[in-house]
This record gives sequence, structure tokens and C-alpha cells, in this order.
Amino acid sequence: MLNTIDAIKQRTSANNFDPTHVMSKAEIEDLVSLAIESPTSFNMQNWRVIAITSPEAKEQFKALAYGQAKVKDAAVTFVFVGKMKGHEALPALVKPLLDAKVIDQAAYDGWINMANGMYAGKDQIQRDEAIRSASFAAMTLMYAAQAKGLVSGAMIGFDPVGVAAACSLSDQEFPVMMLAVGKAAPGNWPRKPRLTVDKVLSVK
Ligand SMILES: Cc1cc2nc3c(=O)[nH]c(=O)nc-3n(C[C@H](O)[C@H](O)[C@H](O)COP(=O)(O)O)c2cc1C
Repeated sequence: MLNTIDAIKQRTSANNFDPTHVMSKAEIEDLVSLAIESPTSFNMQNWRVIAITSPEAKEQFKALAYGQAKVKDAAVTFVFVGKMKGHEALPALVKPLLDAKVIDQAAYDGWINMANGMYAGKDQIQRDEAIRSASFAAMTLMYAAQAKGLVSGAMIGFDPVGVAAACSLSDQEFPVMMLAVGKAAPGNWPRKPRLTVDKVLSVK
């Protein structure tokens, strides 16, 4: 198992996956359980994920991803889904903190009211937040996979309308990202160059 820094340094996007590698439901659930630890605004947890594992589904989603072979070859391809109106789930999600007396009624009310003020009736902000949440979860899953000796490949190259239909998403949900995860096959690219810190960081 890699530590966090090594997982960050070793992760690259894989294109070539071992098509014979199969992941068990427990292994997939373990990765998702780690992704669930990702933070979300107000703890709205306004995302979910669909795991594509069967040969038939892989064929279908490979076609929806414009023929990207990794969807077929990887043990699993996750479809990360963003949820609109995430704030509407908050009263039930925060209630356990109130019940456990971690927060009092005033803090609970403030939490819910602040989220409503920020998101209610604001579609673009709800969508931005869902993309942030699903993206954090996908990133956590990438590092969890890397730590476990697996590789991953994020994808935005897919037909969003087709993927939404194939996943039976509601009209309040949309696909944010696909993420292939599995064992590497030979031929993946080495690490790609990155900007240097001075090009990215300004300190005020
Ligand atoms: C949001 C997102 C979408 C991406 N979509 C695709 C894709 O559809 N197909 C693909 O081959 N790579 C895709 N990539 C991989 C990027 O090309 C890759 O992350 C980038 O070149 C940096 O390389 P690295 O991940 O190996 O560091 C995507 C990456 C991200 C973060």
C-alpha cells in the first residue's frame, strides 16, 4: 500500500488496462467507500457513482465514450454523477449531528439556512457545486486506486446525453466524469511534464 505522497507522485492517467483483470464487488465497494470520505460543501454529498463492470455495459459505455478502449479493458469504469438541489438533502444529512449533540438547534438551523441561501433557486451554482463534489470524489478514488497498486484514467470524452440515458439519470442529475480503474497493461505513457511552482503559485 502506497502512502499518500507516493500515490500522488506515481499516479498517471492510464490508457492501457489488463483486460483479463476482474475486480470483485467488495474491491469496488472498498474504493467507493474511500471516495465517500471526500469533502463536500456543507457535507451535501451531492454526487453518486455507477460502476460499469459487465461486458455488455462496457461495450455500451465504450461506444458512448467515443470508442475509448479503456472503458472495455479496465476492470471497472465509474461514472461519477452530480446532483442538482444538493441542499435539499441537508436537513436529513445534518440531523445526526444534532441528535448526537455535536451541534445545537441554532447551529443546525444556521447550517441549513446558510446552504439554502447559497443554493436555492441558483441552478448554475448547484451545478458548479455538484461538479466540485463529484470531482473531489473521483480524485480521492484515483489516489485510493493508486495506493492499492491499480491505475486509473479519467475521461470527459463521452456523450453526456447518451451516458445520462444509459445510466437512467433523473433530470436532476448529470454525468460529471468517467473513471476507468484496473491493472495496468504495458505501453502506458510515462509521467507528463508539469508547470513549475513559480508558474502556478503567487503569494500575497
Ligand atoms: C477531467 C478530465 C477529463 C479527461 N478526459 C480524458 C479522456 O476523455 N480521455 C483520455 O484519454 N484522457 C482524459 N483525461 C486524461 C488527461 O489527458 C490527463 O490527466 C492529462 O494529460 C495529465 O496526465 P496525467 O493524468 O497522466 O498526469 C482526462 C483528465 C481529466 C482530469
